[in-house]
Amino acid sequence: MDAPSFWQKNHSSNPVDKQTYFEYHTVDFSRTLGLVTPMNYEWPKKVIIDCDVGVDDALALILAFHSPELDVEAVTGVNGNVPLDLVFENIQKVLCLIQPKNKPLIAKGADRPLKGEPVYAYSFHGKSGLGKARIEKKKHEEWYRIFSGRADELIPKLVRQHPNELTLIAVGPLTNVALALQRDLEGMTMLKEVVIMGGAVRVKGNVTPYAEFNIFVDPLAAKIVFESGLPITLVPLDVTHQVCLTPKVIEERVKPLNNLFSQFVVEATQYNSTTQRFLENSEMFHLHDPLAVGVAIDQDLVGMKRLSIDVNTREGDYYGQTKEVEGNLKINACLNVNSKTFLELFLSRLSS
Ligand code: BDR
Ligand code: CA
Repeated sequence: MDAPSFWQKNHSSNPVDKQTYFEYHTVDFSRTLGLVTPMNYEWPKKVIIDCDVGVDDALALILAFHSPELDVEAVTGVNGNVPLDLVFENIQKVLCLIQPKNKPLIAKGADRPLKGEPVYAYSFHGKSGLGKARIEKKKHEEWYRIFSGRADELIPKLVRQHPNELTLIAVGPLTNVALALQRDLEGMTMLKEVVIMGGAVRVKGNVTPYAEFNIFVDPLAAKIVFESGLPITLVPLDVTHQVCLTPKVIEERVKPLNNLFSQFVVEATQYNSTTQRFLENSEMFHLHDPLAVGVAIDQDLVGMKRLSIDVNTREGDYYGQTKEVEGNLKINACLNVNSKTFLELFLSRLSS
C-alpha cells in the first residue's frame, strides 16, 4: 500500500499527526529534488526500542511514538545511564506522558554489564535520569503492558512473531541485545534491521578520548552484537555530535509550542533561560538517541559507509574503543548527517 492511502486508512482521525507528517516531508521533497518520495517507503516500520532512559532516550521515545512512519511494539530497559529499576520507572513515566494508544509491551532487561561494574551518568541525566522533569506515573494499565519475562526473552519472541519485519533500535549499552543473541540466535537473525546509537568511529569519545558511553559500559556485549552478522546501522558520535538543541532553538522553536512535550524538553535538558545553558553548564544538548530513531524513520538523513569495526574489550586506555579495521564482516556506519533536516523532523514531532 502506498503512503497516502495507508495514511488515510490509519491516521485520518488525527489531523495534527497528518499535518506534521506533511510538514516534514515537504522538507524531504525539496531535499531529494523529488527523486525519493515517501511512496517508496514501506511503513509504518514495526520497531522495538531498547533504552536506558535517560534524557535523550526519553526524547527518542517521544520522537518514535509521534512518528507515523513507526509502530513501536515494545520498549525494553537496560542498565546504563541510571540503574535498571530507575530506567524501568522512567520508561513508564515517559509512556504516561506520551499516552500511546497501542499500549506497547515493556520489559526489564539486564541490571549490569556482561563483564565489569555498572557505570552511571547521573551528572548528565540528573539523579532521576530525567533531569528536572517531573512526570506523574499513572495507572499502568492505561498506556502500556508489562511483559512477565525479561527483555532478552521478549525481543526474540516478538521477532519470531514478525519475521523479517522488525527493526530493533538500541540506544543504551548493548547488554540486552547480546543476551537475546545468546538466548535465541536463530530468532534474532529474523530481525530486519538493528539501529544502534553507540561508538565513536572517526571522532573522540565522550567518556574517554577513545570510548563512547553506550559501548564503554559494556564493550563485551557490543563486541558480541557487532560480530553477530545482524544487519547493523551504527549511529555513532560522528553524527550525533552534529545534532543538538541550542538556546536559540529552545527559545524560538521549542518554547512557543507550549505543550507538555516542549515543557518536558526544557525541564529534562535543564535549560536555564537566564544563563542560556543546559545541564552541566553546557551550551548545547546533543540529540544522540533521537537521531537513531530519525535514521530508522529515514535513512536519507545520513551518509553511511560499510566498515568493519572492532570493539576493544581489554582493560586500559582503549577500553570500549570502536575502531575501523580490515575485515569482511561489515556494518553500516553513519559518518555524516543532514542536521538541519533532522532537527526539523524532531521539532515537528514535538507537537502531539
Ligand atoms: C549515549 O550515552 C547516553 O548517556 C545517552 O543516552 C546516549 O545513548 C551517548 O553517548
Ligand atoms: Ca541512551
